[in-house]
Amino acid sequence: MRLRDKVAVVTGGQRGIGFAIARKFTREGAHVTIADIGNAAEEAASLSAIGANEARFIKTDVGSERDVKSMVDAVVAEHGRIDILVNNAGIEFYKPVTTTTEDEWDRLMRVNLKGVFLCSKAAIPAMRPSGGVIVNVASELGLVGEANVAAYCASKGGVVMLSKAMAIDHGPEGIRVNCLCPGPVSTKLLEEVFLASDDPERMRRSFEQRMVLNRLGTPDECADAALFLASEESSFMAGANLVLDGGWTTR
Ligand SMILES: NC(=O)c1ccc[n+]([C@@H]2O[C@H](COP(=O)([O-])OP(=O)(O)OC[C@H]3O[C@@H](n4cnc5c(N)ncnc54)[C@H](O)[C@@H]3O)[C@@H](O)[C@H]2O)c1
Repeated sequence: MRLRDKVAVVTGGQRGIGFAIARKFTREGAHVTIADIGNAAEEAASLSAIGANEARFIKTDVGSERDVKSMVDAVVAEHGRIDILVNNAGIEFYKPVTTTTEDEWDRLMRVNLKGVFLCSKAAIPAMRPSGGVIVNVASELGLVGEANVAAYCASKGGVVMLSKAMAIDHGPEGIRVNCLCPGPVSTKLLEEVFLASDDPERMRRSFEQRMVLNRLGTPDECADAALFLASEESSFMAGANLVLDGGWTTR
């Protein structure tokens, strides 16, 4: 077990990439808390059934400092510390700036960027005594631009740079911060992007064809990469981007 008795928080762990990460960490021996705005009690119970430790769910809006603080307080009250924080919660929509409303911009930034800030701010003090790891799930769209997805690109570029800045500030105190940058992965988030387009099948095919590997990624592949970043195997990585995008950014 690579995360035996580590105390881990995974935001947005109700479904998709976050759930796959929570499942993998549970199997690897971690005490996992899923912090999600949805109702993930069933998901947490299903993890408890497969892992050595109980997984738990705490309903949390990562964009609310009050929610985040009470979630972190509850984890610390139970375990005394946090070893691993995976900032995974995120939302996406496809629009250029000209048709993005102020509300849409604020809502997306609140989850994708402010959520990473708030959760990290709350968790870092609980990591200090014994060190810790923060894995920020950014995106290939935090590294390269793309048509009609301006706010999302801006938010994920922000996550990449926030991760580097936090790595510099907190590396000396034993807290490693790195980014996971997945390319298109088969989840509800991406499905909803396809469904919102004029021709979902054509958009899906165009995504697949852009990738060297000619296919979408899977949540499990992301979970393997997150496990690497959360474990001692990546002990010399700080402020780095682990790109896992089937070759989207290669050409
Ligand atoms: N799927 C992809 O193609 C892809 C590619 C690159 C990066 N990502 C990133 O990976 C992460 C996970 O994406 P996914 O595809 O699994 O998405 P998803 O929509 O399947 O899951 C996202 C989860 O985040 C939760 N969430 C949303 N708003 C929240 C909030 N305010 N507070 C707490 N939880 C909240 C949702 O309830 C959901 O459980 C996101 O940050 C996303 O931007 C996804």
